[in-house]
Amino acid sequence: MKFIDGFSKLSKQAKLEWIANNFFENPDEVIREFKSYWHDDPAMQKLFDEFSENTLTNYFIPYNVAPNFLINGKLYAVPMVIEESSVVAAASQSAKFWKDRGGFHSEVISTVKIGQVHFNWKGDFLKLKNFIKAIKPILIRNAHPITRNMEKRGGGIVDIELVNMTAFDMDYYQLKATFETCESMGANFINSVLENLAATLKGEALAYKEFSDDEHDINIIMCILSNYTPDCLVRTWVECAIPELGTVEGMPAEEFANKFAKAIKIAKVDIYRATTHNKGIMNGIDAVVLATGNDFRATEACGHVYASRNGRYQSLTDVKLDNGKFHYSIEIPMALGVVGGLTNLHPLVKRSMEMLGNPDARELMMIASANGLANNFAAVKAMTTVGIQKGHMKMHLLNILNQFDANEKETEQAKEHFKHNVVSYTAVRNFLISIRPVVTEQKKK
Ligand code: MEV
Repeated sequence: MKFIDGFSKLSKQAKLEWIANNFFENPDEVIREFKSYWHDDPAMQKLFDEFSENTLTNYFIPYNVAPNFLINGKLYAVPMVIEESSVVAAASQSAKFWKDRGGFHSEVISTVKIGQVHFNWKGDFLKLKNFIKAIKPILIRNAHPITRNMEKRGGGIVDIELVNMTAFDMDYYQLKATFETCESMGANFINSVLENLAATLKGEALAYKEFSDDEHDINIIMCILSNYTPDCLVRTWVECAIPELGTVEGMPAEEFANKFAKAIKIAKVDIYRATTHNKGIMNGIDAVVLATGNDFRATEACGHVYASRNGRYQSLTDVKLDNGKFHYSIEIPMALGVVGGLTNLHPLVKRSMEMLGNPDARELMMIASANGLANNFAAVKAMTTVGIQKGHMKMHLLNILNQFDANEKETEQAKEHFKHNVVSYTAVRNFLISIRPVVTEQKKK
């Protein structure tokens, strides 16, 4: 019987035992293993447990760093939390390449975020329009206890507008509010304000004298921020004269630039390629977003919708080859914060921020987007010259060696051997056979 009521109310030990006993063949070993990933310091473990619910243990993902990122003239070592081999190498390689060509340039175009109160109302639209206009100061005043602190920091509600959605669904309207949330991502702030706006909207409608009897009732459907923040936008680019690209993996600069531009064009016109292309960009962005305690699901959702803003899903990066110049850029919205959420709690997030020189939210948007651009550059550069597998499999070599329990000496020999040979699972296995009397079975399947 694997159904359980009240699981969340069990102690952590009881949860672990229930899971181990019901879903594993060797529960004692499983409990021991899960516990082996607990933090030595119980207070620290409690902190991690409380980030989420029903926590059994910690799931390790490497915390890495890509040095040499020159962004707007400032050098950064960029923390990246990611499990995929070659992403950090790609970022580091591109960072170094562009450092010698002026580095990354970046500007934040705007930072406003959006939230909506979705509601149903029956009546004359003009009256609703006048009503919203009349109560706008009340909506803002009533939200003041929530917005006061944000206002002190220069943020708050930027605007509230009525959106008529009746063309899509009968009697459906929105209050669309825009917010400036300064150094925070602002999700809780926005949602709290929206619920306050909804309460005012409903209350004021009851008292509004211009409404007829059956127009007083506003039916609030829901209040929630939007993770689509096209006006929380950063633009980042690199540029140099085409000859300054040098010979790229044996390819003359001009030929490389043209081939690179063709690859970007393909990601503009073909959605299968665009998806993988943008995935490679998000490899870099997500890794920074995670390392800095931000919400990578929100960044992903927003980025992919923005990639479809012209009615077709397209590459988030662009390249121009004008007047002998190679100009390559990314424009992407992302709602990042440097205060609130995990930022003040997770010890490694605090270290990430310190490593980056405690950036503000705008600077973090620039750093994350530069990392996305860097990853995309490395991927497209590899694909249009030597092919992606050369670098990928080189990075994957250690994973394969681990699967065969290679010792230190074997690993060194393999690294040397595969400097000049193509890495594959079979090639590594055969190599180990050639230097070992017996190749043991794989440690992990
Ligand atoms: C792999 O994680 C990312 C790439 O597929 C990106 C791309 O194809 O542009 C290499």
